[in-house]
Amino acid sequence: MVCLGNICRSPLAEAIMREKLKQFNLPIAVDSAGTSNYHIGENPDSRSIANAAKNGIDISQLKARQFSAHDFDQFDLIYVMDESNYNNVTALARDENDSNKVRIIMNEHEALGYTHVPDPYFGKEKDFQLVFDLLDKVCEKICRNFQQQLTNINH
Ligand code: 4NP
Repeated sequence: MVCLGNICRSPLAEAIMREKLKQFNLPIAVDSAGTSNYHIGENPDSRSIANAAKNGIDISQLKARQFSAHDFDQFDLIYVMDESNYNNVTALARDENDSNKVRIIMNEHEALGYTHVPDPYFGKEKDFQLVFDLLDKVCEKICRNFQQQLTNINH
């Protein structure tokens, strides 16, 4: 899960996805990173921590790190929050195999009508709640798709 700062959107995405993967009983690892170096080593934005807590998830211990080309070797799928993240991440791709791993996350659930997860950094609590709601729905959809793929493999 990748955004710009790794302090607002992607920590929420990481924690929500981890929770969904547990609910779906899917043994898949998830992590998050930012394309920028602005907040390396910092915990999530206090507003993201508060919003997550309000929604029953603890992200207070997560720490921001910067995305690097090494992540292409560590992960099969890289979900980015917006087009700017997409451009920054694919710019680090070493080949087509790397760039094919990168997906704009809202494209996984088009019925929600969002092309990206809006950056809440200059927003208010309602903007953080929108981020949470979008990520909650799209992560659920991604897990359902994973589950379906496993069912197809096993039958
Ligand atoms: P994020 O939000 O990419 O969702 O973590 C932002 C965090 C920090 C900044 C911008 C967006 N910043 O400019 O420092």
